[in-house]
Amino acid sequence: MSSNNYEIPHIIVALDYNKENKALDMAKILDPSLCILKVGLELYVSCGPKIVNALHKLGYKIFLDLKFHDIKNTVIKSSLVAADLGVWMINVHSSGGVEMMSGVANTIKENNYSTLVTGVTVLTSLDNDDIKTIGYSNNTKDQVMKMAALCYDSGLNGIVCSAHEVKNIKNEIKDNFICVCPGIRRTEDNKDDQKRIMTPAMAANNGADYIVVGRPITNSKNPLKSLIKIKKEFNNTL
Ligand code: C5P
Repeated sequence: MSSNNYEIPHIIVALDYNKENKALDMAKILDPSLCILKVGLELYVSCGPKIVNALHKLGYKIFLDLKFHDIKNTVIKSSLVAADLGVWMINVHSSGGVEMMSGVANTIKENNYSTLVTGVTVLTSLDNDDIKTIGYSNNTKDQVMKMAALCYDSGLNGIVCSAHEVKNIKNEIKDNFICVCPGIRRTEDNKDDQKRIMTPAMAANNGADYIVVGRPITNSKNPLKSLIKIKKEFNNTL
């Protein structure tokens, strides 16, 4: 095992809870040297900024996954408030458009925040049939590529996509452009509502920079053990 790789927290654990105490209990079971934590809509709507502060106090970096999707002015102002919480990463929906995304990227930089901004391309819970239903003519791969290019042109730090699309993106966009990949499942895991899933090892092989894992860790009997196992699979240190 390369202890170096093992120490880099490239796993983002999704704390999808509706109560502060449940999120904090899980954060105390896990370890900030092994993972970053993701605060998403459910937890943030329930607890607000205080949950971010509490998780920071436990030593965690936070990905605030609120997937902003609104008019430019609203998203820029909300992003500034989010960055001011000191979070490591925030995200916006790329379908909000280039002006909105570049507005956020520029404002974050102009105000000297180090918060990374990523763009959600196509949710990992959607497949080719789903995106046809909502009116996209592309398949998921092409649509993700198109949105990734818009995110890159807007000056974002990277994207959220499934691990299936990462190879294409890394081939097309050579810069240091981060690919954050949810929809991670080991072969024995339940898919839940995810559709474009991949194993940690295959995600790493395709070039994913970060993987987001929720239920396979938080619903497991031993979350810390599951985190370590997934991390070893992702870092190829099994
Ligand atoms: O439990 P599971 O591993 O499916 O959790 C995945 C997490 O990643 C959820 O919190 C979900 O909101 C988030 N996410 C996602 N697909 C995206 C962006 C974020 O599943 N495109």
